[in-house]
Amino acid sequence: MRCAGPAIECRAVTRRFGARTALHALDLDVEAGEIVGLLGPNGSGKTTTLRILATLLRPDSGTARILSWDVAAEPMQVRRLIGVMPERPSLYDRHPVEDNVRFWAEVHQVRDPGAAVARALEFAGVADRARDPAGSLSKGLKQRVALARAIVHRPPVLLLDEPSSGLDPSAAASMEGLIRDLAREGTTILLNTHRLAEAERLCDRVAILREGHLLQVGTPQQVRAALLGHIVEVEFAGLVDLPVRRAVESFPAVREVWWSPSAVRCRLSDAGRDTPELVARLVRAGAAIVAVRPAGDLERAYLELMSQPVPGSLAA
Ligand SMILES: Nc1ncnc2c1ncn2[C@@H]1O[C@H](COP(=O)(O)OP(=O)(O)OP(=O)(O)O)[C@@H](O)[C@H]1O
Ligand SMILES: [Mg+2]
Repeated sequence: MRCAGPAIECRAVTRRFGARTALHALDLDVEAGEIVGLLGPNGSGKTTTLRILATLLRPDSGTARILSWDVAAEPMQVRRLIGVMPERPSLYDRHPVEDNVRFWAEVHQVRDPGAAVARALEFAGVADRARDPAGSLSKGLKQRVALARAIVHRPPVLLLDEPSSGLDPSAAASMEGLIRDLAREGTTILLNTHRLAEAERLCDRVAILREGHLLQVGTPQQVRAALLGHIVEVEFAGLVDLPVRRAVESFPAVREVWWSPSAVRCRLSDAGRDTPELVARLVRAGAAIVAVRPAGDLERAYLELMSQPVPGSLAA
């Protein structure tokens, strides 16, 4: 395997469909073992990005690489290294679940396809449905089969297009757990999602697209901080007393402070750096802390970003 450099690399990747530009010079790296979430409204270019990386679409310009292999120039090498869960599961409905997965094991020339299929179905929690026609499964179970199919050859890189779309809350949580387990085993994962709370829990970093432009990329905390400021909320078990007030107000990193009877919101110079010291000062002052959380979540940050004009849209 060729390597060095990020597991997934996009450099100025542009893709047009007729007069419409679906992706404008996308630059994005995903490091080995990372989970990165592509977020953005409908039609913002998420699926286009994954399809380019999956060698299903060619970029008009720019380069995209998977483990250093160029997706346009070396698609066969890339296909061996990736597992893809497309927007729709697209299973052979009349064929048993296990045959759907086995077909892909054979395409990938997996050494012991029987064992690989059994392992993948077991991992995805559909081993008990192995003999059922794929078309007889519910949507959530089909998604699991699509995941089993994507991982049957144990690819180092997974491209997942809305893996939890249409799943009920517990099925979505279980899909989230499966994805986390794969990342723990060292798989690099780029996924598309509209579930912002899920992205916030699951992704090491998120990248937000809009109209084909990459607007933000960073850890969920960085994106929140960039868009909502470095505000943290601390909740106390009882009423705030004077030593606690002093502990907060004497901390130079606190730029602004808003008190309520048993909580405080602080704008810090840098929430990532200053929150531990804030908490330490509060504990020293005798505060009984029940929760410390960033003010606003990724969803609020996302909505804030969507309310701003799209860069480059005036020039277009
Ligand atoms: N095969 C195609 N032919 C023409 N236009 C296309 C094609 N595929 C995508 N597009 C256009 O490219 C843009 C980006 O589409 P894409 O499917 O990447 O969006 P998305 O971010 O995945 O959206 P969604 O959240 O709805 O899945 C859209 O304007 C879409 O209509
Ligand atoms: Mg899509």
